[in-house]
Amino acid sequence: MNTVIINNPSRLVFGAGSLQKMADDYLALGLKRLFVLTIPSITDQLTPVFEQLKSNGVTIQINTNISREPSFSDLETILAFARTFNADSVAGIGGGSVLDVAKLVAAQLHNDQPLQSIVGNGLLKGRSTYLACLPTTSGTGSEVSPNAILLDETDGAKKGIISPFLVPDGAYIDPALTLRLPPYVTAFTGIDALTHCIEAYTNRFAHPMVDTFALEGIKLIGRNLKKAVDNGQDLEARSAVALGSVYGGMCLGPVNTAAVHALAYPLGSEYKIAHGVSNALLLPYIMEFNLPEAEAKYAEIARAMGAQEGNTDRETALNGIELVRKLISDCGIPAHLSEINIPFEDIEAIAQSALGVQRLLKNNIREFSLADIVNVYKIAY
Ligand SMILES: [Fe+2]
Repeated sequence: MNTVIINNPSRLVFGAGSLQKMADDYLALGLKRLFVLTIPSITDQLTPVFEQLKSNGVTIQINTNISREPSFSDLETILAFARTFNADSVAGIGGGSVLDVAKLVAAQLHNDQPLQSIVGNGLLKGRSTYLACLPTTSGTGSEVSPNAILLDETDGAKKGIISPFLVPDGAYIDPALTLRLPPYVTAFTGIDALTHCIEAYTNRFAHPMVDTFALEGIKLIGRNLKKAVDNGQDLEARSAVALGSVYGGMCLGPVNTAAVHALAYPLGSEYKIAHGVSNALLLPYIMEFNLPEAEAKYAEIARAMGAQEGNTDRETALNGIELVRKLISDCGIPAHLSEINIPFEDIEAIAQSALGVQRLLKNNIREFSLADIVNVYKIAY
């Protein structure tokens, strides 16, 4: 059995009341200047706990400037605010973009390493600022992962900064914070989380310990995402998808994603397609491409999704892929690149860009040549 290293937050709180628990834990730490990165639509839900913190002597600065998938310069701008405020602690309360930036603000606040020099795996020297993350979407799993993704404006590519120091001190997952998420965002963030689980389970570096999270995440998301999309107030479905998303996040550090994410990144950076939509557009096609290498594993995924058992693993696996395809379509997410106005003649260039994402392609159970990537994009078109 290969070695696995799991770095989870030292405090992981899941369930109703987690937001309040974060405030209680924070006060016990004795910190005084909290820089909060969040989104405008949630601030009224946060007011009671912020009032409690303020009445206990905590000064809070709220920043809601992240409104899109963040770039290097977005991070530098936010970092400057946090430094001017003289923050001694950082909380990210939002979707993956907000959490990723909050993680990097906490890491870079007192770090002399330039941002460009920490891009990659394991290059960050440390983090001295307390960091709490509270997701308002069920997708990226950033609240438990060592990953942060930023757009590099110099080459237009999405870059990963991966370090155990980016795992927050506290992750507080309160499903009530996801209740206002619109159906479409619920759908594509949920498919992102599902993709994390599927890509970890079928990964070249899969591990039995991580498989447990992955399969449970597939089951929770596969069986509850549509309910959460259809009725955003269904707290039980929201909670199931939120838990599945945490499990997906726990897969990212020790095993990580593979070809779906590699081929999705150029769609995000070059055509501004939301991360989860990019993944959804490719997921069934890459499952089909990978299938010959891991029929038994794809059959297990199918069973976790609740698919009908076939006569062989391959048949069962294909039933599962159909269920994934149906889930994506039932959630209102497009199934073809042509539906999101990507020019067919761009495929060669997109494929070249995807081939550059070797840090993820190397994890894929089946090797991808440039011609294979072009082919998958064409089939997905
Ligand atoms: Fe993702």
